Order: sequence, then structure tokens, then C-alpha cells
Amino acid sequence: MVKEIRNGILFFDGCDTTALAAQYGTPLYIFSETEIVSRFSELRSCFLEKYYNTRVAYACKAFCTPAMLRLVMREGMCIDVVSGGELYTALRAGFPPERIEFNGNNKLPSELELAVDAGIGRIIIDGLQELPLLESICRKKGVRMNVLYRITPGVKASTHDYIVTGKKDSKFGIPLEDTVIYPAVEAAIRSEFVNFLGFHYHVGSQLFDNTPYLQALEVALGLVRETRKRFGFSVRELNIGGGYGIRYTGEERRPYSYFLDPVMTRLNQFCADEGIERPAVVIEPGRSIVGEAGITLYTVGSIKEIPGVRKYISVDGGMTDNIRPALYQAVYKGMLAGRADEPATEQVTVCGKCCESGDLLMRDVMLPPARSGDIFAVFSTGAYGYSMASNYNHNPIPAVILVKEGRPELIVRRQTYDDLLTCAVIPDSLK
Ligand code: LLP
Repeated sequence: MVKEIRNGILFFDGCDTTALAAQYGTPLYIFSETEIVSRFSELRSCFLEKYYNTRVAYACKAFCTPAMLRLVMREGMCIDVVSGGELYTALRAGFPPERIEFNGNNKLPSELELAVDAGIGRIIIDGLQELPLLESICRKKGVRMNVLYRITPGVKASTHDYIVTGKKDSKFGIPLEDTVIYPAVEAAIRSEFVNFLGFHYHVGSQLFDNTPYLQALEVALGLVRETRKRFGFSVRELNIGGGYGIRYTGEERRPYSYFLDPVMTRLNQFCADEGIERPAVVIEPGRSIVGEAGITLYTVGSIKEIPGVRKYISVDGGMTDNIRPALYQAVYKGMLAGRADEPATEQVTVCGKCCESGDLLMRDVMLPPARSGDIFAVFSTGAYGYSMASNYNHNPIPAVILVKEGRPELIVRRQTYDDLLTCAVIPDSLK
């Protein structure tokens, strides 16, 4: 385990977290390289090495910095990007373009141009207008791009409504009505400017049940069969998205094999029955790679007791570094990092410093009696914490460090107040 308690102090991947807080300041995002690498190792043994013609494209929206992308690259994985900014970050980090796949429901012409110029591996087309747009760019540049169609499989996964993506009423994907999908498939197969490979879907995020994956697969298999029947075209690739759930509080993370084995078994059986070669299978895990690998450290500041109501413990960050409690009512676990063996005798609510009543990180949790200056650690913040951070109230975005077996390294420096102003301009009229 990368998390351990030594002499009442929380250690993370071999580092004393209170010492890290003193050295780098707080709030501070800390990522364990050991934990990230162990996820990739698990995927290697239970998926990449077990089933031929498979790929893992880390969904870098979960946590995207040049150092993280170098780590993904070193581990031999692909990435899924969803914006020109993520793509640019990957290219600047030296990520091999052919290992980049580009998702997104409204890719801008400028983003597609960047992708075509870089020669990335796949573009996942997400709507009917995107094919002609991409074709016009490819025509201009004299290149042919590999594409998949993102479909909306119409399955309902059980998770927070904001992170369900595969149901029919969704801004993502191409609807599966015959009159919509098959003309689109035909156009892509016949196109001179794209190389049509197959289908993509993503059922949702933070899932613990493999049923929606299997239901979505059935939908995709129907398409594979029909595409062959109508156009004599064998689908060469299926991208089944990400969404594997992690542990925030009690629930155990399911091993990847729980999700992947039934899918691969069903797919292999389908291909044998149909007498076709199995398409390549790509997965796009994000949260499950980095979620539990990240923690956030804060310093306790003001403490307020409202007699008979509640005790508020304020920390020096909040919804600006972790929007998830406010946005999805996400629940986290935390502890006083320097007083880990003291009994938790007080019920408190841990709140952030933003001017927003909803800026609560944890409601009604039990802690040892906290004092100003204590270091407070929140667990499993690695996914969609830093990547959704904002400068609300002009709070600077915290630093990020990567730790491995007792060795910390800075990977994103803390923003300064001047960083907050780098893009701001005072026009002559106001000078
Ligand atoms: N592939 C596609 C096409 C996606 O839309 C997503 C997530 C993923 C892969 C990765 O899913 P993961 O393995 O990370 O669950 N901000 C939200 C999560 C939004 C996820 C959106 N799409 C949160 O903090 O819970």
C-alpha cells in the first residue's frame, strides 16, 4: 500500500506528508508514481498481454500534465485527448502522435487541423457534421485520417446523472436510428479522406457493475453484423471507453478483469459465430488510473463552532482545487495527516475558503479535535481534481508533486498572483 501510518504520521509512497506540506506548501496535490504504474501493470497483465490486438488509451482529462503524459508514454500506453489543449500538451510532452486518439462532441476546425497536422492515430467522430469537416481538412492537406464513429448505445448506467454518457438522450455520439447511422457509416467507408475503422462508445463513469458494458457491447455487435451485411465491411476496431469505478470511501475498486473478461469472452464468441476476425479492442480508463494515486494536503485555518449546530474546520483550498463535492455531491475520506493515531472524537464539517456556501469538502465527518495549523489530507483526489481546478475568487492553483518510494519531485509549480494576471489587459480607455 502506498498509504501508511508511521508514528502517527501519514506517509504516501514513502514520503512523510507533513514534511511535504512544509517543503512545498499547501494546498498540495500529491501523486504516487508507484500507484499509477501498478494500474498500468494490472492492465498489461489482465488485458494487453492476455488478449492480442488490444490497446489502453489513458483518458487524460482525468489528470493531464506533461510529466503525467511522459509517464504514460514510458509505460507504453496510448492516450485519449478531448481538446486542442490536451492534444497540444501531449505533443509538447513529446507523446508519439500515432498513439493519440481524439474524442469530443464539438471538435473545432482549429483542433482538427492541429490533429491532422500532427498525424495523430485516431479521430473519434462524434456527430454527422464532423465527417465532412474532417474530410475538407484532409483534402486540403492531402492526408487520410483513421476514424471511428462514436455511437450512443442507449444504455443506462447507474452513476451520477452528470457523468452518464451512454444513454440515448446524450450530447455525445451518433444516434443509432438506421436512417442516421448507416448512411453515415457508408459515407465514411466510401470516403477518400478517411480510413473508417469501427465504433466507439463510453457508457459512463465511476461504474461498479459490468452489466451496462455488456449491454452496450450487444448494441455494438449488432452494428458490426449489420455493417458487414449492408456494406461487406468488416469492422476493424471497437473502442469501449472507460468508466471503471474507484474507491472514494468504502467501496472496493473492482479489478479491471471483472469488467474486461466478460466483454472479451462475449466478443470472441461473437466473432467465432460470425466467422470474422476479432476487431482490435481499445479501452479508455481515466479515473481508475490516477484517482486513488492522488491525495490533496491542506492546512487547517479558521475553526468555528456554532453551538448546537455544527463545527466548521476551514482549510486553505476547497472547490477551486476539488469541485467534485459541490458539483456531484461526491464524498471523500480524509484525516489529520500529523495526528493519524489520535482517536476521532469530534464530528465536523470541513469547508473550503471560497465565497460560496456550497464550498464544503466533507460534511459531518469524525476527526480528532483539529487545531489551526494541522495538515489535513483528502484521499482519492487524483482524478478530476487538478484537471477541473479553477481560479475562482482568484485563488492560485496549487502545486503538483509526484512521489515515488520516498522521493518527491515537483511536476507543476504553484501559481503565483502574477500568473493570475498574465492574460489580463487594461485597455487604453481605462488607463
Ligand atoms: N472515454 C470517454 C469518451 C469519456 O467521456 C470518459 C469520461 C472517459 C473515457 C474516462 O472515464 P473514466 O475512466 O475516467 O471514468 N468529471 C467527472 C467525470 C467525467 C467523465 C467524462 N468522461 C468526475 O469528476 O467524476
